[in-house]
Amino acid sequence: PRILILGAPGAGKGTQSAKISEAFDVEHVTTGDALRANKDMDISEMDTEYDTPREYMDQGELVPDEVVNAIVDEALTQADGFVLDGYPRNLEQAEELEDMTDLDVVLSLDVSEEELVHRLTGRRMDPETGDIYHLEYNPPEDPEVEARLEQRDDDTEETVRERLRVYRENTEPVIEHYDDEGVLERVDGEQAPNEVWADVKATIEDAV
Ligand code: AP5
Ligand code: ZN
Repeated sequence: PRILILGAPGAGKGTQSAKISEAFDVEHVTTGDALRANKDMDISEMDTEYDTPREYMDQGELVPDEVVNAIVDEALTQADGFVLDGYPRNLEQAEELEDMTDLDVVLSLDVSEEELVHRLTGRRMDPETGDIYHLEYNPPEDPEVEARLEQRDDDTEETVRERLRVYRENTEPVIEHYDDEGVLERVDGEQAPNEVWADVKATIEDAV
């Protein structure tokens, strides 16, 4: 299936996408991870304000559409089924996506703003596996993993606030757009991870 997962920063898109990818045997296409792996690529030829994605990301701003559209277009061309996470983030990107592919399911994970801040500031990543943890909600059991955990550069309180502002301004209209089209499936993302997963899984199974 071709699945789109929407939601605010910290809503659990990455956490649920990892489960979807495994259970439904689809590619996890994530613009955030793709950009983090290419933070210092030279984008100066694209007539952008900054020369690399890093400046945008570390301030919580959107990387220019031209850069992101190209990443998604290439990834979706290569994928049979996919779960798309982190894109589209504005209405222009949503229009691009419509030209690239059809979708079978459009999910939105709904979480309150207070909880989002708490999740993001407590998040830690395993740089070796890419696995996502949380200091309180989901700490690693292995002390070796615990010792190598890193915080994402954009998970400081100040950048988190800016990411949420950018989300409200640019990405909420995308969710409204899919809602207006009558294709949006809302999932309560504030439940425990396994409860969210049960709802996500059931929603996808119903749709395909
Ligand atoms: P991106 O990497 O996409 O970040 P984001 O959208 O801000 O989302 P996050 O990855 O922070 O959150 P998530 O929803 O994946 O939550 P997670 O599962 O990790 O983008 C980063 C930057 O890249 C952007 O700011 C922008 O600069 C750029 N960018 C990316 N895409 C772009 C685009 N299309 N256009 C332009 N620029 C783009 O969970 C969060 C935490 O909560 C974890 O600690 C987790 O363990 C915990 N958790 C998860 N679920 C639960 C639960 N149910 N209960 C308790 N804790 C939970
Ligand atoms: Zn993510």
